[in-house]
Amino acid sequence: MDAHQHESFIKTPRQLVVVILLAFLVPVIGILLLVQLVLTVAGPDPRAMAPEAVAERIKPVARVEFGPREGAPAPAQTAAAKPAAQAGPVDGKAVYDKVCFACHQQSVAGSPRLGDKEAWAPRIKQGIATLVQSVLKGKGAMPPRAGNPALTEAEAGAAVEFMVGQSK
Ligand code: HEC
Repeated sequence: MDAHQHESFIKTPRQLVVVILLAFLVPVIGILLLVQLVLTVAGPDPRAMAPEAVAERIKPVARVEFGPREGAPAPAQTAAAKPAAQAGPVDGKAVYDKVCFACHQQSVAGSPRLGDKEAWAPRIKQGIATLVQSVLKGKGAMPPRAGNPALTEAEAGAAVEFMVGQSK
């Protein structure tokens, strides 16, 4: 048996110490690097975990509310403010811009176009009250209340007045 057959690359005690140290340090450093990787790559962004950010992410898609909205004036105030708002004159142009515009600006579905005197003349002859009734009940391709169930008679009237005024 020859000693050369079992020759090791560790030849001196010093090399042995170095190898033992490396055998201990390499895995430890590897684990430290892995931990750091996990913390920086997958770790939560501190801003993302702020209570506001979490609440924003998990908030329900919709919510049902009864009573006044947060930040809305107290019920007593709203009740007092409402009649005043309703009693005030309705802005016919605002109603037109919101509801009637969709069809009457471009004569959609054969509707009399705003400002088209010829188209409006025979209709105006029927009288404002009849025209308002046409809006409330619907006429031809115009759905009842112009397709807006929340439209009040006052709003319909104001919008008709505005349209007639623009089309005479
Ligand atoms: C979906 C389209 C549409 C919308 C929105 C719409 N209209 Fe009309 N409107 C029509 C059409 C179509 C006619 C013609 C109906 C007919 O004579 O057959 C018409 C006719 C009218 C007439 C004449 C009615 C009559 O008796 O001759 C008035 C007045 C009128 N619209 C007012 C309004 C007002 C005011 C609004 C908004 C509040 C409104 N329309 C919104 C489609 C619309």
